[in-house]
Amino acid sequence: MFIVCPWVLACKLDSDNLIELLLEKEEAMLKRLNLLLLFFLPLSACAPQASLPLEPRETELAAVEPTPIPATATIQPEAGIPERMRRGVNLGNALEAPNEGEWGMYIEQEYFDLIREAGFDFVRIPIRWDGHAGESAPYSLDPAFFARVDEVLGWALESDLIVIINVHHYASQSAEVALSPERLVAIWGQIAEHYQDYPPEVVFELFNEPDNTISASQWNAVVAQLLNVVRESNPEREVVIGGIFWNAFDQLKFLQIPADDEHLMATFHYYHPFEFTHQGADWAEGSEAWLGRTWDGSQEEKAQVADDFDQVARWAAEHNLPVLLGEFGAYSKADLASRARWTAYIREQAELKQFPWAYWEFAAGFGVYDRQARDWNNALKEALLP
Ligand code: GLC
Repeated sequence: MFIVCPWVLACKLDSDNLIELLLEKEEAMLKRLNLLLLFFLPLSACAPQASLPLEPRETELAAVEPTPIPATATIQPEAGIPERMRRGVNLGNALEAPNEGEWGMYIEQEYFDLIREAGFDFVRIPIRWDGHAGESAPYSLDPAFFARVDEVLGWALESDLIVIINVHHYASQSAEVALSPERLVAIWGQIAEHYQDYPPEVVFELFNEPDNTISASQWNAVVAQLLNVVRESNPEREVVIGGIFWNAFDQLKFLQIPADDEHLMATFHYYHPFEFTHQGADWAEGSEAWLGRTWDGSQEEKAQVADDFDQVARWAAEHNLPVLLGEFGAYSKADLASRARWTAYIREQAELKQFPWAYWEFAAGFGVYDRQARDWNNALKEALLP
């Protein structure tokens, strides 16, 4: 994410309206893998429960208090993948660097057990396939790079984590993709074929953060082509798509969602206020001037986030689609207390709206884990997994 969109629209929707809207959609939503259940599950039901309660006999029904549905009911293997994804973390700065290690981060097997044991249930792994594919047809992907991705992906699955792989840092400007999509289509054709026999816990995300050089309609045309090639070999795999302007929340409304595809999730990234989350980040122009900016959790600051998330929740209900908050985080140059406050609030808002979320990121500049100390950053971990 590199800029703040100046024309962000806030759209207010109170929770009563949202519930009404959801009720109207009940039938369709039930069809879509019991998503409704998730919307109404109180978060307090998330505590693991030892066993399911016995069914009361018919005559006892009136006297029996309604039993909260245990969270485990939503994470049985037969539940859909989106329903099983709740709390995730991005393994950023590793496989999306020009070469792994060049940005100081190399993925180790031990991270996945640490991540799982901390309470995350999925990881998102950004990958720069672009740097490992031929420049001319058939745009072959380097088998050694595939082998490394296989290894990392295998570690995630072994640790019982759902894993999203994406195409990250493809081309310097997304306009390139609109002008000549065939290379990216060919790359996705290879990725999709390569992983076609992997379990459904492997999720594909078509493209990280299409920028502001591609229009919404150009982007929709690219998405259709990518989805076609993926569906040739993976008709039922969960696929994640987001809008332009770096996956901005208020661009979702321009996405064209194919009506007949039951395995799609939408995604957005959230880094507002950008001058707080990206202060001192050398890839964000002018960010030195933002150093010292705090996030105090004032009513006004919170209302902005809640309004933005309401807008996404309403769009999700209208389109009957699960929505993933695929990235959010505040860079390490901001003060830790503000980072923890902001992170906790964004996480709470996402959970309130039943958006699975993935923190940006594990152990680099935004890191929730400190590799030198081999320990969690407790303030951030507590903000994410209280
Ligand atoms: C996007 C960029 C990534 C950056 C992050 C936070 O995902 O691709 O490189 O670190 O946003 O700015």
